[in-house]
Amino acid sequence: MVGFKDLNLQPYSDKNLAKIETELLQQALFRCHGLDFRDYSFPSFRRRVRRHLVEEGIPSISALQESVLHDGGALRRFMEYVSLGRKAMFRDPVFFTALRERVFPLLKEKPMIRIWLAECATGEEVFSLAILLHEEGLLEKSRLYATDHNQRFLASAGAGIIPLNGMRESTEYYRLAGGKRPFSDYYTAAYGFALFASELRENILWGRHDLTSGDSINTFDLIICRNVIVYFNKALKERVLKMFAESLEDGGILGLGHRETLRHCAVGDSFRDINPVQKLYIKEA
Ligand SMILES: C[S@@+](CC[C@H](N)C(=O)[O-])C[C@H]1O[C@@H](n2cnc3c(N)ncnc32)[C@H](O)[C@@H]1O
Repeated sequence: MVGFKDLNLQPYSDKNLAKIETELLQQALFRCHGLDFRDYSFPSFRRRVRRHLVEEGIPSISALQESVLHDGGALRRFMEYVSLGRKAMFRDPVFFTALRERVFPLLKEKPMIRIWLAECATGEEVFSLAILLHEEGLLEKSRLYATDHNQRFLASAGAGIIPLNGMRESTEYYRLAGGKRPFSDYYTAAYGFALFASELRENILWGRHDLTSGDSINTFDLIICRNVIVYFNKALKERVLKMFAESLEDGGILGLGHRETLRHCAVGDSFRDINPVQKLYIKEA
């Protein structure tokens, strides 16, 4: 029988250990909470995990795993950290100007406009789009499907509130995006939150959806998915873009984030550029 002292145990390098611990963390999040980060770009996921450890003063990835499995608050803080970038309404105002000037004219004649915001986070992008559609007289005939894999984000956004502290930046972005009214007309401020007017929220449907499932939820005239597929590995990116292509009507439009592209992707040939800088593409018949 081999004793422990006879085993030729090689010391693992810190780098190898961090890789194993990160993979175990991904497994744990998936198996315990159904949160699937296994096909995210590994280096970028690991980078975010490392930064989170520093910010929270957690000594190791294994210790983080322990806490996200047993402590709901720790899981919530981790999810917010790995999921959210900077939050503001009308962020990248030029993208919203391009929607107004190049995309809405293509949708105007439709009897009904179905739009999917496929990772709506805490709602900033959804309310921005609702305001834009309202100002162009299109909100009434639009249905906005706002989805995210984070249930907590959906709960606050679904209540129509976002934190008030980002509103100064949002007001400036709204102006740069060609906003037509005083921005504060659209919300009421109370207790540190901005509550959006109910007319803006009536046609928004909120629901949990995980892009890693590869499942669609309907067919759409416009799909917007900005700043998340950049974190996916190549295979997952291809799967999600194929699902978007299949979920769009002919002539439907796809909007991606500024670091994301359809170039070199299998579905790229099914689309033509509307605005290559703002990553707006139209599906060809
Ligand atoms: C950086 S935020 C982008 C939000 C918004 N589109 C923007 O650009 O401001 C990324 C969002 O994607 C969501 N997300 C990440 N992975 C997802 C997945 N597999 N399925 C659905 N949503 C996901 C996160 O919860 C987060 O709300």
